[in-house]
Amino acid sequence: MKAITVEPKKPGTVRFEDIPEPDVREGSVLVEAIAAAVCGTDVEIAEGKYGWAPPGKTRLVLGHESLGRVIDPGPSSSFKKGDLVSGMVRRPDPVPCPNCAVGEADMCRNGQYTERGIKEIHGFMSERWRIEPEYAIKVDPSMGILGVLLEPTTVIIKALEQVLAVGQRSFWEPKTLLVTGAGPIGLLAAAVASLAGIEVHVLDRHKTGPKPDLVRALGATHHSGSVLDIDFEPDVIVECTGVGSVIAESIQKVGAGGVVCLTGVGAGGIATRAVADVAAAAVLKNNVVVGSVNANKRHWYKANDRLGRLDRKWLSRLITRYEKPENFKQALERQPDDIKVVIQFSEI
Ligand code: BGC
Repeated sequence: MKAITVEPKKPGTVRFEDIPEPDVREGSVLVEAIAAAVCGTDVEIAEGKYGWAPPGKTRLVLGHESLGRVIDPGPSSSFKKGDLVSGMVRRPDPVPCPNCAVGEADMCRNGQYTERGIKEIHGFMSERWRIEPEYAIKVDPSMGILGVLLEPTTVIIKALEQVLAVGQRSFWEPKTLLVTGAGPIGLLAAAVASLAGIEVHVLDRHKTGPKPDLVRALGATHHSGSVLDIDFEPDVIVECTGVGSVIAESIQKVGAGGVVCLTGVGAGGIATRAVADVAAAAVLKNNVVVGSVNANKRHWYKANDRLGRLDRKWLSRLITRYEKPENFKQALERQPDDIKVVIQFSEI
């Protein structure tokens, strides 16, 4: 079968090539790929900045945002042939640490977790893939191709759960939430937060075009420019850019008793504000900065529900480009108007 593979940490090594059929040890459920969405992490792996091949191998099958159709449910699953499924990304570490032991691999304490398409296990950008029944999540067939948005939604569900958990440390009735960055994660965060009835604002560098339009279509308010110029102090900021200056400004801008949740993974940049100044703002206002990555089964369950409650037309506007797997190069190259790029392996 064909798969999109890469030699991690080596830029320019992505190929669409023949590889053996998936090994039954990867899971008893056999799935035909329908689509895999591209995210920033995939682009980073393709650029040689991140990723690990399975032990003893040099190449990794890319892809962790999946949608597929069960072709063989295997002997022990409750799936039926034809069911639509998406695969969970992370697997617990082998020790296991306390969090992995209780089903919270997303909170792994020793870093020895593995992740499909990212860290030591093949991903989902292959014509067929296998999965353990307990890590396959059934997708409502009426979602169609939009089911490929499930994984990024799980990341948001977890992040918002973290915000809520932190907020509970004192009396807290959040009224306003600001999302920084109108990429797929930011827009999905805004959409899921709007379902909760909170007043949603999104800040992005684009002043016009599909992103501000999508924000307004949610009934949310669009801002551009600096976080510091916003005319109110948000109770919650969900930071989705990973850009140092935006992070620092978010920590300074969030209201007293507020929570800044970091979801973006950036690197480098020039410090524009002294760490002590940023920290002082957090201390004097009792603010919390919480990082959030990945998601566990509870978040996948909730994400399925929340995604199903979002307007399908709005969701379909998030997918700005469909590519064939043989056009992996274009798929993995960011273009200015991209929101979410989806690699389509077969018809839905
Ligand atoms: C994925 C997460 C993963 C993280 C770090 C993200 O792109 O959505 O599931 O944990 O990358 O590898």
